[in-house]
Amino acid sequence: MSKDKVQIFDTTLRDGEQVPGCKLDAEQKLVIAERLDELGVDIIEAGFPISSPGDFKSVAEISDLVKNASVCGLTRAVKKDIEVAAEALKTAKKPRIHTGIGTSDSHIKYKFNSTREEIIERAISAVSYAKTFVEDVEFYAEDAGRTDNEFLARVCEAVVKAGATVLNIPDTTGYCLPEEYGAKIKYLKENVKGIHKATLSCHCHNDLGLATANSIAGVINGARQIECTINGIGERAGNTSLEEVVMIMRQHPSLNLDTNINSKLLYDTSRMVSEKMGMIVQPNKAIVGANAFAHSSGIHQDGVIKNRETYEIIDPADVGVNESSIVLTARSGRAALAYRAKIVGYELTKVQLDHAYQEFLKFADLHKEITDEDIPKIMEAANLDLASFS
Ligand code: KIV
Ligand code: ZN
Repeated sequence: MSKDKVQIFDTTLRDGEQVPGCKLDAEQKLVIAERLDELGVDIIEAGFPISSPGDFKSVAEISDLVKNASVCGLTRAVKKDIEVAAEALKTAKKPRIHTGIGTSDSHIKYKFNSTREEIIERAISAVSYAKTFVEDVEFYAEDAGRTDNEFLARVCEAVVKAGATVLNIPDTTGYCLPEEYGAKIKYLKENVKGIHKATLSCHCHNDLGLATANSIAGVINGARQIECTINGIGERAGNTSLEEVVMIMRQHPSLNLDTNINSKLLYDTSRMVSEKMGMIVQPNKAIVGANAFAHSSGIHQDGVIKNRETYEIIDPADVGVNESSIVLTARSGRAALAYRAKIVGYELTKVQLDHAYQEFLKFADLHKEITDEDIPKIMEAANLDLASFS
């Protein structure tokens, strides 16, 4: 049975770039956009054109460059924003305008000093106006995570009627629990008249570390687009991490969902974005962290050397990592030492390994990690000479 496609909407260059200190120059944005297109994302949110002349120029240049993906520009529900976005996107092969407004009671009262009825009117006007420029109009209901479902359904119904092709349901503050977010998507699927004409989209922030779980709950309940960033970068605690949602769907065939992403480019893309933004990837980051395929405890190393699948659920090659690494530390066992020593050129007999292991433990107690360069020193201390192994 063929799997249902979930569209990947990458917002590294918009929501991701909002991270303090991560500003990219125009050239860097182009290089990243080209890579995202190659990676297979379906939509690239290239920026917020009215926010600055630099952002306008980047969206225009990315529109020129990108061959396959839709190129999207963000706007508020404001006429001028929409006109400027349309202008920036005018050379895109597949342009999308992403417009919207806050829908939670807190946004309506404190940000807009408005009423629910007025917000619906503004949402309809924004979508209708954007439709005069492009066919593909995505509507975001900002703070949908804290918006009452019944009102959210009314807003969605109104904007679908006005022509919205995608309904973005952002958990802007990263507040929802996965069950809650999933139930919200299900409610909209079941209660918005005309919902079959639009794609529901998950846009989840990571304030409680739930962005990935919430996005997956969303697609399980009928959303068919996920908005995410490389390495999960973004405002505050970040956005949903692209590499995580893609690999969750790939590793769980029972979900019957997949994306167009070429996962073999994930690791390299992660490093590219990290380097250009000057933002390190935490070593224990799922999928792309330096330790994601590194094994250091003796029990795990022994298992992985016998069969990788004992402690790994993903083949590192599938995400572009050369191989699993066996890291030598004081917690490593004989199997790991024998494995790494063999790579360096020492194929040890059982007796030799026993000797070498005693020296290894003394050395390991004094060092955090043992590198390949340290192995000859350990062998020497155990009276084992490389020449006798060749
Ligand atoms: O988090 C959010 O609500 C957003 C919208 C502007 C789409 O980024
Ligand atoms: Zn956001």
